[in-house]
Amino acid sequence: MTELEVGFGRSCVLFKLAQIYPERNFIGVELEESKVNRYDWIARRYKNVKLIAGNITQIITMIEAQSIARVHIYFPTPVPNLRYIDADFVYELYRILEISGIIKIATDDLDYFRLIEELFFNSIWARMPWNHLEYERESRSLVGTGCEEQYSSKYYLECRKRI
Ligand SMILES: C[S@@+](CC[C@H](N)C(=O)[O-])C[C@H]1O[C@@H](n2cnc3c(N)ncnc32)[C@H](O)[C@@H]1O
Repeated sequence: MTELEVGFGRSCVLFKLAQIYPERNFIGVELEESKVNRYDWIARRYKNVKLIAGNITQIITMIEAQSIARVHIYFPTPVPNLRYIDADFVYELYRILEISGIIKIATDDLDYFRLIEELFFNSIWARMPWNHLEYERESRSLVGTGCEEQYSSKYYLECRKRI
């Protein structure tokens, strides 16, 4: 089973998940190489975490179909000309997810969130109630990232891929 985190910035959630699920694999993709370098030495201590520097819109096309069980996207850059969540990206998400795979998104930006909701308001996705991340069950935060601490997860979406 493999999970993917997109744009982990300075708050890679994968390390917490990798400790809980040593039998799973985790891939983190981050646009800024300096942020990947910051964590690379930690990733090397885990056998099940791989970090990749690059643009997810290109990298996602290289991911095998139906190979990912869960995708985490927390506080994607909301600036309009820097957004990457669009119809093509959501199509790629659908392609890489296993049947019944999960996508989790949290943001504080209402405008971007409305757009994201529209993209997932579709019969091939089933909207689910938010399931707390395994390491946040005892806490009030949803994802425990730096951006959540700063802006709080005002809007969040969890969807399951239908057959
Ligand atoms: C606002 S930060 C959120 C960081 C972290 N997820 C959090 O919640 O604290 C957004 C991150 O997404 C990364 N990012 C933006 N566009 C990206 C893209 N096209 N591919 C991969 N990462 C991207 C940025 O470099 C940045 O680190």
